Amino acid sequence: MNEKFLNKIVTGDALKLLNDIEDGSIDLVLTDPPYFLDKLDNEWNQQKVSLRLKSQLVVKSLPAGMKFDREQGKRFYEWYSLVSSQLFRVLKPGGFFFSFSSPRLYHRMASAVDDAGFEVRDMFLWLYTQNQMKAMGLAHFIDKLRVSSAEKDVLKEELRGWKTPQVKSCFEPIVMAQKPTDGTYLSNIQKHHVGLVNTNIRIGDGMFPSNVSITEPIHKVLDRAFLLPKPSQEERGVDNIHETVKPLVLCQYIIALTAFAKDAVVLDPFVGSGTTALAADRLGKQFIGLDINKSYVEIARRRLKKKEIVSSFASFIPITRQPQLLA
Ligand SMILES: C[S@@+](CC[C@H](N)C(=O)[O-])C[C@H]1O[C@@H](n2cnc3c(N)ncnc32)[C@H](O)[C@@H]1O
Repeated sequence: MNEKFLNKIVTGDALKLLNDIEDGSIDLVLTDPPYFLDKLDNEWNQQKVSLRLKSQLVVKSLPAGMKFDREQGKRFYEWYSLVSSQLFRVLKPGGFFFSFSSPRLYHRMASAVDDAGFEVRDMFLWLYTQNQMKAMGLAHFIDKLRVSSAEKDVLKEELRGWKTPQVKSCFEPIVMAQKPTDGTYLSNIQKHHVGLVNTNIRIGDGMFPSNVSITEPIHKVLDRAFLLPKPSQEERGVDNIHETVKPLVLCQYIIALTAFAKDAVVLDPFVGSGTTALAADRLGKQFIGLDINKSYVEIARRRLKKKEIVSSFASFIPITRQPQLLA
């Protein structure tokens, strides 16, 4: 039944398409869904998304990226509960579900995943140093007050450097969840070929895999423990207009850590420009990618065809044989 999807990127609403994926057929779900901040919701209208960026450059009222709306988290929870229930159904027993999130709405994501029946096993952290700052000073609003300009100047001076509550956001939390195993870990891996993590792989300077990753050198102590291999220059693709492309090497790390079977199927229901699918493909695994936006689907398909994009993580994975007991 999965033939229609296997090793393909399919256009459509994930919630509808997931209905056609077989129960218990997926080894790993790795995804980076819309975070429901601003216009980045489950419709992800590309025009609105790019307008959102422009609106952040002009001060009219609070720019999109700065509005605090408690309803966003609630809407996200409701929608992601439906998505997570479908993912629970399609995963094999013991299959892992990794989902990127935003620091602000992580709690809603993790709760939706937990409430769908998954065991939340850990939180992974992708750490970086550069990001757009969103905190905003209040000078523009002070200018609108009906007070004398001298009073405005005093107020501006008093509030110099005091801004709306947003420091530079420099990490992304990733929920690591698991569908409960079918019996013990041993019986589960023998029967379903999933459920354990590969501690043979190494990150940083030959270190044991950890739940913190960095994809840029930061400091020798951090690099030694957490740095993933440098990505190739080609990996993004010059024509990739997607705004939230994830590092290929980070996706490969998660896949190499958790996808045991040689022919493991990695599903990303919000595949965007195809990074998860590309990561799985270049590690020799199978993939299924879904996205609502046709132009992103085309980018993903183009990236998959580019043989010059290779796995920078492959050399970090020791060659392991498929144990015969599990063949
Ligand atoms: C954060 S982006 C994923 C980016 C991806 N990780 C990459 O590296 O390119 C989320 C994606 O979800 C897609 N999306 C939003 N709502 C969707 C829905 N209901 N069904 C399927 N895809 C959806 C958007 O088009 C967007 O490409």
